[in-house]
Amino acid sequence: MAITAAFLPSIDFLNTLATAGVLAYGGYLAVTGAATVGVVTSFLLYVQQFFRPIQILSQFYTQAQSAFAGLERIFLLLDEPSQLNDAPNATQMPAIQGKVTFENVKFGYNPEQLVLKGVNLQANPGQMVALVGATGSGKTTIINLILRFYDVSDGAVKIDGVDVRSVTQASLRRQIGIVLQDNILFSGTVAENIAFGAPYATQAEIEAAAQMANVHEFITSLPQGYTTKLGERGAPLSQGQRQLISIARAVLINPRILILDEATSSIDTRTEALVQDAIARLLQGRTSFVIAHRLSTVTQANQVLVIQQGQIIERGTHAELVSQQGIYANLYALQLGAATTQ
Ligand SMILES: Nc1ncnc2c1ncn2[C@@H]1O[C@H](COP(=O)(O)OP(=O)(O)O)[C@@H](O)[C@H]1O
Ligand SMILES: [Mg+2]
Repeated sequence: MAITAAFLPSIDFLNTLATAGVLAYGGYLAVTGAATVGVVTSFLLYVQQFFRPIQILSQFYTQAQSAFAGLERIFLLLDEPSQLNDAPNATQMPAIQGKVTFENVKFGYNPEQLVLKGVNLQANPGQMVALVGATGSGKTTIINLILRFYDVSDGAVKIDGVDVRSVTQASLRRQIGIVLQDNILFSGTVAENIAFGAPYATQAEIEAAAQMANVHEFITSLPQGYTTKLGERGAPLSQGQRQLISIARAVLINPRILILDEATSSIDTRTEALVQDAIARLLQGRTSFVIAHRLSTVTQANQVLVIQQGQIIERGTHAELVSQQGIYANLYALQLGAATTQ
């Protein structure tokens, strides 16, 4: 791998130099009569023929190098630990009721460093659990484990008493709805984007879901309505509109468990009100885990889990935690208080 990209221009340079040399000297010989023009011309062709394979070789080398770089990235992706295999005897996850338990869960993205250091929690069907804590405390990690994007190092994550490692990932994940801050829409029509998790949904079902998500009116106001094509990452929709579409997507799946990462960035007030209203409706009757940034969410939660450095350090309702005058009360006064008065 000692040959660098500089090799290619230098070959071109040598080629030009040789051509110029042959032209100059050949021209001189032709003028003085020492060689015919035909000889000089064929010599020029020989020079070209001499350099062409080298040029091709160096081009090939550059291509090979970028192919190797690509290959390296492919292997990085393949090595991602999130590519878990189903157990050989994995069964289908039965229809989820909505109980989620963490039994002394320990987990690290790499073996040397535990990120979750013994987490115990139980969410009963229909309960709303708010996860609160500083950046890096482990909130997203807890959610990753519910979806089994990673396997626990110790302990167990169970849904309705079933260890998530014993069921197929597909049967687990299609029963869990996810609404993230950065919603992933793909290029396709609005209807296709809503029906992403429910490919057999009828147009009527799609529209009902959009209605529940407060986005039906907006969609019908588009020139092509539900058949409007979206670009990469949902262009040209605003962030708020993308959120509404992903809420409609979750409504259509009608999952018993819902995961919600509340947006931190503010969207315009009207859309924000639509999003809030749609989310409140979406949460109803489902077990939900919400990475909470809004005080209104936290006050409504059945359980607030305060995470610090991979451990649940306080738990209870908002009112209970405030009256404890502990870490949450401080956090609430500092962070949540500030966030809601922005
Ligand atoms: N994919 C990853 N690989 C390695 N470390 C990670 C990865 N994701 C998160 N971490 C680390 O795990 C810890 C918890 O992160 P995270 O669960 O994302 O926190 P939160 O969501 O509360 O901000 C942090 O120290 C973070 O750096
Ligand atoms: Mg996070």
